[in-house]
Amino acid sequence: MITFKAVNSPERAEQLRVLRNECAFAMTRDTGLIGPNRQRRFFEEKIAPGIIEGFLAFDGQEPVAYGLLVPDDEGRVWSSTGVKAERRGEGLGRAVTVENARRAHARGVPIWAEVRRDNAGQQRICAQVGYRLVSSLVREGFVVDVFRCDRLAPEYAA
Ligand SMILES: CC(C)(COP(=O)(O)OP(=O)(O)OC[C@H]1O[C@@H](n2cnc3c(N)ncnc32)[C@H](O)[C@@H]1OP(=O)(O)O)[C@@H](O)C(=O)NCCC(=O)NCCS
Repeated sequence: MITFKAVNSPERAEQLRVLRNECAFAMTRDTGLIGPNRQRRFFEEKIAPGIIEGFLAFDGQEPVAYGLLVPDDEGRVWSSTGVKAERRGEGLGRAVTVENARRAHARGVPIWAEVRRDNAGQQRICAQVGYRLVSSLVREGFVVDVFRCDRLAPEYAA
């Protein structure tokens, strides 16, 4: 059974780091690998004070996917998600994308996402669960689509 647990300790932040680094290649802004010291600062400065909300999806004791809700200076909340490499294609990417949207909507705000045009999996998930395309841009040679979700598609609503 998959359970969602908050990133609320340095140990969980470290589990998040390992997962996130497996997904770094697909990120739209920072594709670099994150080391333990940077992650500890990230936990202390962003997660512990509640600026960024994060959760892990566990299969039993094993962390298999994550979601982050990241605010920007204009008050928008951005979704960042990823799935352990060997566990892709099981519906986990859709599950954490939906969970992120539910968490933003529970705050009364839409959720935003940047997705590379060539990221077929996340493009499919966004279309399925109710994101709509707002704009597109080119960053470092990649086409990036900007999506927003105000309401999940009925089959994914809580
Ligand atoms: C993108 C990612 C999150 C998808 O996660 P996943 O668990 O493999 O996706 P799911 O199993 O939930 O698949 C959901 C749907 O997308 C489809 N899909 C998933 N990966 C796909 C791919 N590479 N190409 C085409 N379709 C894909 C699935 O077939 C499924 O469609 P269906 O319901 O019609 O069968 C995962 O590949 C990942 O972690 N990638 C690296 C990080 C990343 O890209 N994060 C998002 C950044 S914006």
